[in-house]
This record gives sequence, structure tokens and C-alpha cells, in this order.
Amino acid sequence: MEKIIINGGTSLKGEVSISGAKNAAIAILPATLLIDGICTIENLPDVSDVKQFCSILEILGVKLTWKSKHEVEVDTRNIVKTSELDITRTFRASYYLLGALLGRCGNVQVGLPGGCKLGARPIDLHIKGFEALGANIDLSQGNISATCKRLTGTTIYLDFASVGATINIMLASVLADGTTIIDNAAKEPHIVDVANFLNTMGADIRGAGTDVIKINGVKKLHGDCTYSIVPDQIEAGTFMLAAIATKGDIVVKNCITKHLESVIAKVVEVGGNVDSNGDKLRVWMKKRPSKANVKTLPYPGFPTDLQAQMGVVLSLAEGTSIINESIWDSRFQYTEELNKMGAKITSQGKSAIFEGVNHLIGAPVAASDLRAGAALIIAGIAAKGCTEISNLEHIDRGYENIEEKFRNLGANIKRVQE
Ligand code: EPU
Repeated sequence: MEKIIINGGTSLKGEVSISGAKNAAIAILPATLLIDGICTIENLPDVSDVKQFCSILEILGVKLTWKSKHEVEVDTRNIVKTSELDITRTFRASYYLLGALLGRCGNVQVGLPGGCKLGARPIDLHIKGFEALGANIDLSQGNISATCKRLTGTTIYLDFASVGATINIMLASVLADGTTIIDNAAKEPHIVDVANFLNTMGADIRGAGTDVIKINGVKKLHGDCTYSIVPDQIEAGTFMLAAIATKGDIVVKNCITKHLESVIAKVVEVGGNVDSNGDKLRVWMKKRPSKANVKTLPYPGFPTDLQAQMGVVLSLAEGTSIINESIWDSRFQYTEELNKMGAKITSQGKSAIFEGVNHLIGAPVAASDLRAGAALIIAGIAAKGCTEISNLEHIDRGYENIEEKFRNLGANIKRVQE
């Protein structure tokens, strides 16, 4: 078993470069299935979720030629199957195969992942969207199949601005007859990135990044293009909050400042400093953070995927803070681990109260999910003494070279095999 060992008490200093966005990559990879041709994707993050999606594509007959660990040529001319039940069941984002293969081949079957550590994860909005476009959906024995003769554009109102449903319906409607309108669409940066990718390949999608996305169906996507994935705003936010929790002074390079406005506002509210210059952000903190209340919301609100990292900052703040989680039912499991490190957090349902403490103390802790893992690394660097983090497979799903990036900022962090 692997563990991360951190000898804490370091103020982070230096520069860190942000990788491509994991959540954009795992939507753009299945989106390539809509092309009957070849395209190249650059700036892919080197993380296990991307590797897993690539294995699924290969099982379906996609030919991948790696130019470097961040760049791959994708040849989707010979799809040999549209059904994969085993790997897909263990990998939530495989639901994007539904929209992509329904659009390209008119039939698809994947294993359905159940609930997960973050709480129930239904896909009813995805299914409603596919049915509105004319697909037949069958759910049985933990699998979902979708079939259609032709998909026909229509107006689809999402009851909740779901990231996954917005992307999946967009994928299904790119090659449909006529015009599809997604109303109350999610606006996260990776939705814009998927739309930009598809438009580069010949799709006609307008309004991505707003509440209403209009997709005019086209006959075919041409491929023969190169697309570079947007920088990961959650990774950038993770390092920004690490600088605040450790009273550091860092420069976050290769990020899009506009995507980080809600995070910058909270950093400033707790007493931190931010200076932006093109695609770089300097973030520094000289004193103990002040208390703040946070409510997670769909973009452009404060992201749920930075809630745990912000929780570390508030554990160390002067005074009492409250976080309300409005996206996921169960995203406070990390608070039990932080309490083992001396934090004083009480969580109930979708809220948690943080009574700030002067310092955290290193302890053995376990990552319950990807972002909880990142939060524990930040806590370990800020804490006095030694922290041991287990369950690293969660962290490896979405952070590229995380120990090396923190080590380059001065943290005493290493991975060991036990
Ligand atoms: N929901 C439904 N029905 C649906 C779809 C969603 O009720 O059909 C509910 C969910 O249960 C949840 C809420 O709507 O309560 C938000 O779900 P959404 O569909 O927006 O999330 P997602 O697409 O499943 C993506 C990210 C998550 C991120 C959320 C919110 C990917 C692969 N995952 O999930 O990322 O937290 O959007 O921004 O893009 C992470 O990276 O750590 C992560 C969990």
C-alpha cells in the first residue's frame, strides 16, 4: 500500500504550473467518438481517470497514438463495439459514452455506477434528455442501454443545472436532426471546453457558458484538428488555498483567472492577497486567516470541488465559520480526518461549523475522495509534525504529480510503499 508522508510546518513558496482540466479531459475523450476520423488532443492531464477512459476507448476499437504523456492522436474510424459493461460500472464518467455513442452509432450499453462517496448520484436528467431527443432507454440488471433510429432536436429544460447532463445531452445532439436547446444548462468552464472542442471538429454549438445552449445538428464531424484542453481551475484553486492555509507566497502559472473569481473573492475575504497578471496569479498570506461563511454553488459560484480545501483554511481561521454544501449530500467526510489532526469541526447533513484552531497536528488520516485527499495534503503541510495519508488512489484520479508540485513549493512530502 502506498502512503504520502508529510513533515509539516512549511510556508509554501515558489511557482507551480497547472495541468489540463481532468473533468474536461474525461468528457472530451468520449466526445472524440462522434468523429469518424482522426484528431489530436493536447494538454491532457497525466492522471488515472484519463488513463482509465483511454483504456475504455481502446476496448471500443479507438486507436490511440501517444505523442507525449500529455498529447494523444485519436483515431475513431473503426469502432468495433458499442457495449462495455465491466470497466464502465467502476468509472462514473463512463456515462458520457451514452451521449457520444448514441449520437454516432444509435446504440450503446454501459454498466451503471451506483451511489458513491459523495452521496446519491442519479442520472435521471441525462435519461430525460436522451428520451426527449427520441432515444429508447432500458435499465436492467445494473446496466443501461440506449437505442434510437434517429435523434431529433428539441428543447430540454434541466430541473437542475447538472454538469454531466448538460455535456451528455450536448454530445447526443451534435449529430441529431434539427436544433436542440438545453435550458438551465450548467455553465462550468469544462462545458465551454467540450463545446469548443466539438465546434473545432465541425459542430455548431452556441451559448455554452450561459444558461441556454443551442445545438444545430450537423451531418458529420470532420476531425483533422488539434485541440488543447483548458487548464484545471480546481487544481489552481487547490494550490491557491494551500498558499493561504500555510501562510505562503506562491505564483500559480497557466491558469485562467476568470474561472477563479469566486475563489479569489473568498481568499481576499479571509485576509489573503491575490495579484493577477495574464495567466499567472500570485497568492500570499501574512497572518492567520479570518473566519468566513461559504456556500457551494454551480459555476460561477464557489465550487463544491474546492469545499474541502477551503475547509482546511477555515479550520485554521480566527473565529467560527460555516460551510453549506449545496451540490452533494455527503461531502464532509474529510472533517472527521481533520478532527483527528486537532480541528474542531461539527458537521451535520449538508452543513459544517468550523471553530478555528491555532494549529493542526500531524496524524494518520485517509482520503475518502479526490478533493478530500487534496485537502488532507494541505492540512498536512500546514500542520505541526508528521501526517500519513492513505487511500491515495482517490488523489491519483485527478491530480498530476501532486507530491512533486508541492515539493517544488518547499513542502517536505514524499510517497512511500508499505
Ligand atoms: N443530479 C441529479 N440527476 C442527474 C444528474 C445530477 O439529481 O441526472 C444531481 C446530483 O446528484 C448532484 C447534483 O445534481 O447532487 C450535481 O450533479 P452534476 O451532474 O452537476 O455533477 P456531475 O456531472 O456528476 C461533475 C464533476 C464533479 C463535480 C460536479 C459539480 C465530472 C466528471 N465530475 O459531476 O467533480 O463535483 O460536476 O461541479 O465532471 C470532482 O472532480 O472531484 C468531482 C466530484
